[in-house]
Amino acid sequence: MQLGQMPHITFSKLAKKYGNVYQIRLGSSDIVVLNGESAIRSALLQHSTEFAGRPNFVSFQYVSGGTSMTFASYSKQWKMHRKIAQSTIRAFSSANSRTKKSFEKHIVAEAVDLVETFLKSQHFNPSHELTVAAANIICALCFGKRYGHDDLEFRTLLGNVNRFSETVGAGSLVDVMPWLQTFPNPIRSIFQSFKDLNNDFFSFVKGKVVEHRLSYDPEVIRDMSDAFIGVMDHADEETGLTEAHTEGTVSDLIGAGLDTVSTALNWMLLLLVKYPSIQSKLQEQIDKVVGRDRLPSIEDRCNLAYLDAFIYETMRFTSFVPVTIPHSTTSDVTIEGLHIPKDTVVFINQWSVNHDPQKWSDPHIFNPSRFLDENGALDKDLTSSVMIFSIGRRRCIGDQIAKVEVFLISAILIHQLTFESDPSQDLTLNCSYGLTLKPFDYKISAKPRGSIVN
Ligand code: HEM
Repeated sequence: MQLGQMPHITFSKLAKKYGNVYQIRLGSSDIVVLNGESAIRSALLQHSTEFAGRPNFVSFQYVSGGTSMTFASYSKQWKMHRKIAQSTIRAFSSANSRTKKSFEKHIVAEAVDLVETFLKSQHFNPSHELTVAAANIICALCFGKRYGHDDLEFRTLLGNVNRFSETVGAGSLVDVMPWLQTFPNPIRSIFQSFKDLNNDFFSFVKGKVVEHRLSYDPEVIRDMSDAFIGVMDHADEETGLTEAHTEGTVSDLIGAGLDTVSTALNWMLLLLVKYPSIQSKLQEQIDKVVGRDRLPSIEDRCNLAYLDAFIYETMRFTSFVPVTIPHSTTSDVTIEGLHIPKDTVVFINQWSVNHDPQKWSDPHIFNPSRFLDENGALDKDLTSSVMIFSIGRRRCIGDQIAKVEVFLISAILIHQLTFESDPSQDLTLNCSYGLTLKPFDYKISAKPRGSIVN
């Protein structure tokens, strides 16, 4: 009850009273909470192995058919699993100019589709279409195929993704009070729909991977699913990796790649309508660099510092992954003079780093220009201080592709459309808590800015 609706803010308040490292009791678990850049860096970088575990929470066992890499604890097998996932992402997104171009083409296709979809509606909430777009991009990498805004099976599946974030976010009740599963109560029914969602999602992914297996040709690796089949289906027995891990990995990447990227874009659209002068300034800069005869491309990035600043400020200000996925200690460890025993659950409060008044002036004010120096160039020291992808051994492995997706989609949307808020609504920045913070329902409209380039 004391955690309230926004646990990350409560954690930061408690840090003022008890220091940056303290312990709370949640249900039957003792949990250490880490706040502030120095404590988090010291734990996740200087004691990276000791803090690289995951707790054996009941909800984690239902993700990706129980063969998730993301929710698995630290082990030799996990290290191998993560390495394969990481190098496969790189191979299909940034390994050479051909893969970079092909990845960019998928993103542009989704962004253009979004422009057309938004123009068809009068006043709309963009959240679902953004989820479909982000899902299509990661599906294109994993399956070589997108599912479109009209595919019913896929849309239904995506309609429930919010439940995932609610249940695996730090502080979710069923994980710290497992006995809630044993008698009828609201948490039990939320947990039941979490299990159903994971089952449906995993069955969808498994079906696609099984189709891939049937037509698999080691000479022609079509997409990431083929790549995982090639490595994991045929891995040496001692690695412990099996066919089930192939399916688990694809499911992990699709799950991780859609909710986060779409939430980032969702916040960006809300902030554009909340601050129309920032939107105009972005449009001016994009028009100046790109002109009106072509779409923005990834090569324009080095000339669009204000857009990058807007993206970093959105990540800092909203801190939309406020607390990382829970960690656990793999052995006894001492940090800031405090002893933490092995197998302790650890929450890492990223929000506290991004809102530290010692580091950021007026942290509660949305101001993209804070990231620009006097010549209008991006201050790289400052951008690298924003903590949203976590750090250390569990750092997000999709950070590079996420940044490319968010940059290109937002550049194209802002280049092609002007977003406006519905004057009858009171536009707030209030949000719901989970693994990702999601803005409350809001409505916008989109007007075309000249002809649509295709
Ligand atoms: C803006 C978008 C994204 C944000 C803010 C984000 C953030 C995060 C965070 C905070 C974690 C947890 C780190 C920890 O527990 O310490 C994480 C883990 C992870 N992310 Fe991302 N992520 C994003 C996009 C993606 C994408 C596009 C993919 C893949 C396609 C991805 C794949 C993963 C995976 C596999 C993990 C688990 C890593 C592990 O447990 O070792 N993420 N991400």
